Amino acid sequence: MKMNLCNSVQTRKNVQNYNVFKGDKFLNLGSTGFLLLYSLFLTVIFSCYMLHFPFSPILKFASKQDSAPPTNSLHITINHSQPADYNNSTSDCDLLNGSWVLEEKGNSLYYTNFSCPTIPHSKNCLLNGRADEEFMQWRWKPEECTLPRFNAKTFLTSVKGKTIAFIGDSLARNHMESLLCILSSEESPTDMYKDVEDKFRTWLFPRHNFTLMVLRTEFLVFATERVINGSFTGGFDLHLDKLNGNWTQHLTNIDYAIFSDGHWFLRPNYLYENGNLIGCVYCGEAGVQDLGPGYAIRRAFQAAFNYINKCVECSGIVVLLRTFSAGQFEQGAWNEGGFCNRTRPFTRDEVKIGDQDWEFRSIQIEEIERARKDGEKNGNMFEIVDVTRAMLMRPDGHPGAYWGNKWMKGYSDCIHWCLPGPIDTWNEFLQEILRRKLPIFH
Ligand SMILES: *[C@@H]1O[C@H](CO)[C@@H](O)[C@H](O)[C@H]1NC(C)=O
Ligand SMILES: *[C@@H]1O[C@H](CO)[C@@H](O)[C@H](O)[C@H]1NC(C)=O
Ligand SMILES: *[C@@H]1O[C@H](CO)[C@@H](O)[C@H](O)[C@H]1NC(C)=O
Ligand SMILES: *[C@@H]1O[C@H](CO)[C@@H](O)[C@H](O)[C@H]1NC(C)=O
Ligand SMILES: *[C@@H]1O[C@H](CO)[C@@H](O)[C@H](O)[C@H]1NC(C)=O
Ligand SMILES: *[C@@H]1O[C@H](CO)[C@@H](O)[C@H](O)[C@H]1NC(C)=O
Ligand SMILES: *[C@@H]1O[C@H](CO)[C@@H](O)[C@H](O)[C@H]1NC(C)=O
Ligand SMILES: *[C@@H]1O[C@H](CO)[C@@H](O)[C@H](O)[C@H]1NC(C)=O
Ligand SMILES: *[C@@H]1O[C@H](CO)[C@@H](O)[C@H](O)[C@H]1NC(C)=O
Repeated sequence: MKMNLCNSVQTRKNVQNYNVFKGDKFLNLGSTGFLLLYSLFLTVIFSCYMLHFPFSPILKFASKQDSAPPTNSLHITINHSQPADYNNSTSDCDLLNGSWVLEEKGNSLYYTNFSCPTIPHSKNCLLNGRADEEFMQWRWKPEECTLPRFNAKTFLTSVKGKTIAFIGDSLARNHMESLLCILSSEESPTDMYKDVEDKFRTWLFPRHNFTLMVLRTEFLVFATERVINGSFTGGFDLHLDKLNGNWTQHLTNIDYAIFSDGHWFLRPNYLYENGNLIGCVYCGEAGVQDLGPGYAIRRAFQAAFNYINKCVECSGIVVLLRTFSAGQFEQGAWNEGGFCNRTRPFTRDEVKIGDQDWEFRSIQIEEIERARKDGEKNGNMFEIVDVTRAMLMRPDGHPGAYWGNKWMKGYSDCIHWCLPGPIDTWNEFLQEILRRKLPIFH
């Protein structure tokens, strides 16, 4: 059955982070073998689907320079002439204490599914039948200042000759895809490289000699999927003191590295240090201590940042950590009929912050602070792009039922984000943080 749905390279080892079992939910399923097998089967379909529809094969396309202002079938004209309301005097304002405010349609968007041809099918919510549009019109508003709009021209000028890499899971990719769309209004990117599984991808903005990469690593550390009696289990062996060379080999060419990860740590994983089993996460196995996903996340980020600070050729690198972006299934997990069909953001009072989401965020912040102290002597910079709370207020921003899935009708994607959509705000945060820290981004 698997092989009918997935061809050669798309095997079980490629499961995406949809297979996120929330703590006790997984254990409940695990205790009933049939349900577990069934959910793993669904995961196969789910992941095959995702892998079959990565980027559109278009390599070159029209940009603002060589065509009329883009409109989509909704007749939205993007207002590119808004001032980038960057203001130095707001540089100490707390960006996180804020809420979402409704904007005029043309003023809130950076691109549409028409102007940006690299939107992957599974994130092209309007194409997949989503009918409400308001979710694209909210802008993040800190209480005491304005989060400046992203200025693609300034940004591209600032990163001339540089390389930015998004390092992490499929949400790192989602973030990169948003940036790719925003920047393509200024210059058409060229598709330079894609590996056979489309986990590593490189785009070049030739006029600015700017390289944008995504390096897929679900755990940062070296991990292999556990196989029991010839079957992939969906759980992994994580070597917490050994990094995955697939991303570290690129580090010396990277000027700005944007790290993220978290969802895959919620699987039933086994943890190793020095090659010895030290515990697990949700394995439910007698004699193996469950150290919890937070422990594994901390150790993985520590390993990554320690490596960077020890790497002589990496000195001067700018590292950003984009904090955990939680899944938002309601009325059940992804495989229990859970969905996300809200059409408006939560207000400050409505938003519920889960213990686990907040724990992961706190761990990530602690690790970036630790790395910052260690890295100062090498001229390395460590900063945080803290999206956790703002995104918990956006249950309306996910593809939900509109992720274009032929095989799993009735299942929702409440983890990734529609393009365009609230994930575009991550790049507003990114630009503002770089501006605050580096004069070159002014
Ligand atoms: C674009 O935005 C600017 C600034 O907000 C505004 O003055 C202008 O009227 C807008 N243009 C259109 C066509 O909406
Ligand atoms: C910058 O922000 C300050 C304080 O919010 C405000 O008084 C000032 O007018 C702003 N300047 C510009 C040029 O927008
Ligand atoms: C902000 O401050 C920097 C130096 O601190 C200066 O170079 C830049 O011109 C200022 N930008 C604005 C918009 O005031
Ligand atoms: C957020 O900003 C409001 C308005 O300035 C202020 O009253 C409140 O104390 C702030 N909250 C936090 C957590 O900083
Ligand atoms: C863009 O979205 C509209 C719905 O608003 C849809 O009709 C159209 O096919 C989509 N176009 C592309 C190129 O995705
Ligand atoms: C592009 O940037 C790279 C890395 O900074 C540099 O080595 C190369 O010479 C640049 N190419 C051009 C054409 O400027
Ligand atoms: C693997 O297969 C053997 C023989 O069929 C069986 O005894 C054993 O319980 C299986 N192990 C697991 C972990 O399922
Ligand atoms: C590195 O990438 C290759 C090719 O995508 C893959 O086969 C291999 O499993 C990856 N290694 C790790 C440790 O993830
Ligand atoms: C979301 O789905 C639930 C269950 O199908 C339904 O009761 C509710 O009205 C839906 N909400 C919206 C905003 O469509």
